[in-house]
Amino acid sequence: MKLFLDSADPKEIAALVATGLIDGVTTNPSLAAKTSMPLFDALRQICEMVPGSVSAEVTALTAKEMIAEGEKLAKIASNITIKVPLTWDGLMACKHLSGAGHTVNVTLCFSPNQALLAAKAGATYISPFIGRLDDAGHDGMDLIREIRLVYDNYSFSTEILAASVRHATHVRACAMAGADIATLPPALFRSLIQHPLTDKGLAAFMEDWKRSGQSIL
Ligand code: G3P
Repeated sequence: MKLFLDSADPKEIAALVATGLIDGVTTNPSLAAKTSMPLFDALRQICEMVPGSVSAEVTALTAKEMIAEGEKLAKIASNITIKVPLTWDGLMACKHLSGAGHTVNVTLCFSPNQALLAAKAGATYISPFIGRLDDAGHDGMDLIREIRLVYDNYSFSTEILAASVRHATHVRACAMAGADIATLPPALFRSLIQHPLTDKGLAAFMEDWKRSGQSIL
């Protein structure tokens, strides 16, 4: 499973890109509004440091304006993915932009039928929001499993990009359900490595090695 960072903050992203484990980035208008930097500057910096897909979301509501905004965003760098909302206009924009050779991420997906429509519109990525479904009393992971089944039934190449991922259990469940990608808030990405038995085990190894009086180098 590929791991993306869900952030529009170039500094925060740079620190984690250094691990070599970040496959891409997703941004949205709320994340962009939280960053002090102008959107285009932030996206330019992020695209330079991340080799993979960087989702940049349109803010227009009509297909015609989404296409214009998407084309402008795509000029920032070759790894920009244009992100559109799951509305009829968003799907029309997706069809047009993907037909013109752009990569497109269809966001705010909350049902398998919406995911089916996005795949038919040529989406490169579909973004189901699992945490927000949990918030509303559903099981967000059911959506990932159902989309996986639908896409596999018809060999759609649209990748499932699990979004609104809130905790480590979500990440594990996404990987087990066959999501292609999970996009994680930076703090969640950092937390994935933590295990007290790793720390305890390493401390014991170091202590025993020190007692042996040897060195490798
Ligand atoms: O990737 C979508 C994400 O930013 C939304 O997350 O936690 O606001 O539902 P959340």
